[in-house]
Parts: sequence; structure tokens; C-alpha cells
Amino acid sequence: MKRMLSGIKPTGQLHLGNYIGALRNFVKYQDEYEMYAFIANLHCITIYQDPQTLKKNLRDCAALYLACGLDPNKAVIFQQSDVRAVSQLGWIMACNSYQGELNRQTQYKDKIAKGETGITVGLYAYPTLMASDILIYNSDYVPVGEDQKQHVELARDIAVRFNNRYGETFVVPEPVIAQVGARIMDLQDPTRKMSKSDNSDKGCIYLLDDPKRARKKIMSAVTDSVGIVQFDKENQPGVANLLQILSSLTQEPIDSIVKRFEGKGYGDFKKEVADAVEAELIKIQTEYNRILSEGILESVLKEGAEKANRTAEKTLRKVQKKIGVEIF
Ligand code: AMP
Ligand code: TRP
Repeated sequence: MKRMLSGIKPTGQLHLGNYIGALRNFVKYQDEYEMYAFIANLHCITIYQDPQTLKKNLRDCAALYLACGLDPNKAVIFQQSDVRAVSQLGWIMACNSYQGELNRQTQYKDKIAKGETGITVGLYAYPTLMASDILIYNSDYVPVGEDQKQHVELARDIAVRFNNRYGETFVVPEPVIAQVGARIMDLQDPTRKMSKSDNSDKGCIYLLDDPKRARKKIMSAVTDSVGIVQFDKENQPGVANLLQILSSLTQEPIDSIVKRFEGKGYGDFKKEVADAVEAELIKIQTEYNRILSEGILESVLKEGAEKANRTAEKTLRKVQKKIGVEIF
């Protein structure tokens, strides 16, 4: 069975973009692949986080992994920091990547372009730790949203370079980008990606939002004056975004939704999207509450970490031998 790995960096509460673009796909994949799903807690701290808030976000994220359907009997579910070998290999990754490559990573480049200051070395080196996450578990596939594709490509480049230098060591991973829903947009500004670091709370639906409030957010989503439900990202980004949301939650193809709404207004359309979102949140939150009340989180993460450590240790040993840092 091919191995798949992915992680989410919960610097805030998980939102519908994370769910549709990432988490929900992990759940689907756990039946087809040997799935490693982790919480990228070390990636969170590349920007200062209030410790108490971080802890809560991490716990919620872990609970939401399970609530959304990740099954500890099928997938290896763990926290990044519980596998110390990852940080160690991260250093080796940093020594096998170039400044020029990191300079070209959009997340970093965008911050520089915006004139942001106080960028940590951790944020700059972020993709090298991510490469370590990917390569240490010999992942064949890495499902991510569009914004993370470049980081997976860097991991590939490092793997190929390392294999050329030191002999066959790493599996060269492939990014997997979902067709629909790879980029869910902000409801108030559909030209921007829905994101937790968002200023306007109205543009982002959190998985733990009160379902009624989430409904309101959909009903007041920005659309346009064209008045036709059709998929035109360029001229009707708001409607296109709602179509993507509905289609990915209900599995109905966008074409078919568009046909059903021929001659109807945005009101009916939004109502249907709101219904789908509300129902999905209720389902997720019911599970989330059950998981927290049963107190199973700690043991799930512990067991996941044990499995992940076994794989990671093997890779690290092999790498250290190849590069010559181990005397015996
Ligand atoms: P992040 O929130 O940046 O840690 O992202 C976690 C995962 O969710 C990554 O695979 C992202 O690409 C994906 N993701 C984040 N925001 C969105 C969005 N608005 N639409 C689709 N996928 C997203
Ligand atoms: N950088 C990813 C994000 O922001 C999280 C992440 C860390 C990740 N390591 C990874 C994703 C390895 C896939 C594979 O969401």
C-alpha cells in the first residue's frame, strides 16, 4: 500500500477551507493509502503564539481530526513534536537546501514584499522542516491545498538532490491537489483565500462556529450583480466560491448544481449552501463533543506517536550513516 502523509498547522481554529481543502480528503484517503496525519505544532511557532491559545487550538485540531472521520485504526494520527527525529532531520534538510530556494518560497517572499519585519529564522526555514516531515516517513503522496504545493516541490528537490549525492535514500514524494475545493475563498472578499488569520470574521467559517452563525455568514456572503448562478471565477468569484463549497460538501458536480438553479436567484442558491454548511457543522460538532467527553485524545496521539517514531527513527539512522556523521 502506498503511503500518504499530510499535516495541518493550527495557528487558529480550523475553518471550512482546511476541511474542504485538506482534512476531508485525508479521511477519504485513509481507506486507499497508509495514511499519516499529523498536527504541525512546530510549524505553528514560526510566528509567536500565546501558549494558552496555542494549546487550545492544538487540542481542538486533534479532536477535529477524529470528529471529521480520521480513524486511529486506519491512520497514524500524531503530533509533529512527539517525533524528535523530525527536528533532527530538519537540520540535515536545511544543510541540503539553498538560500536561493528558500528565498523563492512564496509564503516568505510575500511577507518580505509586504515589508513585514520580525520574520523569524524558523519562518524562513519552515519549508525545510516540512521536507523533513515528508521525507522521514517515506511518503509517496502528500495531499495539500494549492498554497502548499511549492513546499512539497522543495521536498522533492531535496530528496532527488540527496539521493544523487549520497545514493538512493528517500522516496521522492508527489503532491496531490484536490480538483474541487483546493482553494476556498473568503466569503466577504472572494479574491482572497479563506484563512484563519483573517481580519473579517464574517468571511471565514470555523468548524466550531455556532451552526446558526455559520448560516448567517453564508447568507451574507458577497456575490455580484450578474444574478445568474454559474461558475465564472473571473467575473463572479463569490458565486463560484459558493458553488465550490456546495459541490464539495454534497458531491454534486458543479454543472449539475448550475443546471438546477437556472432562472433562479441567489437567495435560493445561498439557502441551499447554508443548509449544507449548517448540516455539516452539526455533524462534525456532535462528534467533536463526544470525543472530548470520552477523553480518548491523549491515548490516540500517544499510540500514533509510537508508530510514527518507529518509522522516523529508521530513516534518520539511515540518513546519518549515509552522510557520515555517525562514527560507528
Ligand atoms: P493551513 O491552514 O495553512 O495550515 O492549511 C492547512 C491545510 O488546509 C493545507 O493543506 C492548506 O492548503 C489547506 N487550506 C488552508 N486554507 C485553505 C482554503 N482557503 N482553501 C482550501 N484549502 C485550504
Ligand atoms: N505547512 C503545512 C500548512 O501550513 C503544514 C505541514 C507541515 C505539512 N508539514 C507538512 C503539510 C508536511 C503536508 C506535509 O498547512
